[in-house]
Amino acid sequence: MRVTVSRKAHFNAAHRLYRKDWDFEKNQEIFGKCNNPNFHGHNYELIVNVTGEIDKETGYVIDMKVLKDIIKSEVEDAFDHKNLNIEVPEFKELNPTAENIAVVIYDKMKSKLNSNFELEVVLYETPRNFVTYKGN
Ligand code: NI
Repeated sequence: MRVTVSRKAHFNAAHRLYRKDWDFEKNQEIFGKCNNPNFHGHNYELIVNVTGEIDKETGYVIDMKVLKDIIKSEVEDAFDHKNLNIEVPEFKELNPTAENIAVVIYDKMKSKLNSNFELEVVLYETPRNFVTYKGN
């Protein structure tokens, strides 16, 4: 039986959406307010879904403590109260859109999980805007 286990998490972070190879006007046209050179913040909400077989001995798909610790080390400690553009190496050359943040979170977490698990990441940038990534 394959069951999906989910955990919610939260982080606050600042970002700016822009491309270095575009001039200010082009960035303003495409990214609007998100191109503010002084950055702006979001309260990101994260849902991590891990799907796998129920372990016969423990009855768990994954120990929630293990999942919690991976989210803490890979997401919360790495992103919370950070400026994503400046302080998080993954976004030095990558625009920190919700889409790209979800992919980065997926890749970081996937590398820490047993490969038997399917992983899905849902990232809310605002209560109404969210993206989903499950690999590929
Ligand atoms: Ni934004």
